[in-house]
Amino acid sequence: MNQAAPKRAGNTPAVTADQVVFVTLLVTPIALTLRDLHYYSLGPGGRIRDPLHATLSPGRPLGLLFGFLGLFLFLFMWLYPMRKRIPILRKIGGLGTWLRIHVIVGSALPLLVAVHAGWRFHGLIGLGYAAMVLVSLSGIVGRYLYTRIPRHRNGVELTRDEVEGERRTLLTRIAAQTGLDPTEVERALFVEPARAGRLGPIQVLARLLADDIAQRRALGEIRRRWSMPRPGAPAPDPKALREALRLARRQIALDQQMRMLDATHRLFGYWHVAHLPVAITALIAVLVHVVVAVIVGGVKIG
Ligand code: HEM
Repeated sequence: MNQAAPKRAGNTPAVTADQVVFVTLLVTPIALTLRDLHYYSLGPGGRIRDPLHATLSPGRPLGLLFGFLGLFLFLFMWLYPMRKRIPILRKIGGLGTWLRIHVIVGSALPLLVAVHAGWRFHGLIGLGYAAMVLVSLSGIVGRYLYTRIPRHRNGVELTRDEVEGERRTLLTRIAAQTGLDPTEVERALFVEPARAGRLGPIQVLARLLADDIAQRRALGEIRRRWSMPRPGAPAPDPKALREALRLARRQIALDQQMRMLDATHRLFGYWHVAHLPVAITALIAVLVHVVVAVIVGGVKIG
């Protein structure tokens, strides 16, 4: 094992800004709900008589604050698809960053909106809320498929030639880290593919998950083999080993992703077809709800 320490090791902060925002957006509505659980568990009659009603009901200060925050963040969600489609917006930030924000906000949104609604969902907005939860949950599948397509850091897909170039670079770097021959590395990282054939959407998803498990197993075995000192050589440097394993994970993932690329693309296409109309349903319901709340309800703007 080569003694050179990896340059990137130690540069990654223990907690990233993304994680702080994500946890804050999730923890705040959960903590508030738990704190005032007795209020949220009351029926409509009981709530009116409860002193917290003056703060927590959807039209009162805290409820309204969550409503405005939810509306703002919900509209903000649409900047990602707009950023993808409107050429002038392409200059603002990387697509990968936009998607990261989209995912973080979209995951927390149903909780923020639930606090605004006092955890009661009726009528049209109940339907809109269901659509929002559905789109948010389906986003998890979309995100999974998205990461199964090899991309540049900015979110743009790699071409097959670029993937081949990256594979070769990875092999060379792993060989340098481990002191093994590149063909030996390639053989060590080969993970037996499952039998191919035309797969349906569920089978594709199942195959991708099976690949994840196979990757984990293969890496465990490789870690075990590469950790063992070779005859007459010193024990492997832990940092170099970590770096070699990080590169090996990327290499195995690239091979698996390329084998499944056409099927993943097909499934991601179906996912897009389903995600967008549900998102638009939620958008219409939210806009109608806000207009009705301003005209008929007690929300006063200005
Ligand atoms: C209220 C919540 C959400 C709304 C309204 C929403 C809306 C949208 C819309 C309109 C698109 C564009 C679809 C298209 O271009 O065909 C999109 C794409 C996407 N969303 Fe969401 N989304 C939400 C939550 C989430 C969540 C929670 C995640 C992940 C956990 C997520 C992950 C994605 C992904 C991966 C894409 C596709 C990216 C791409 O192909 O470039 N979304 N979303």
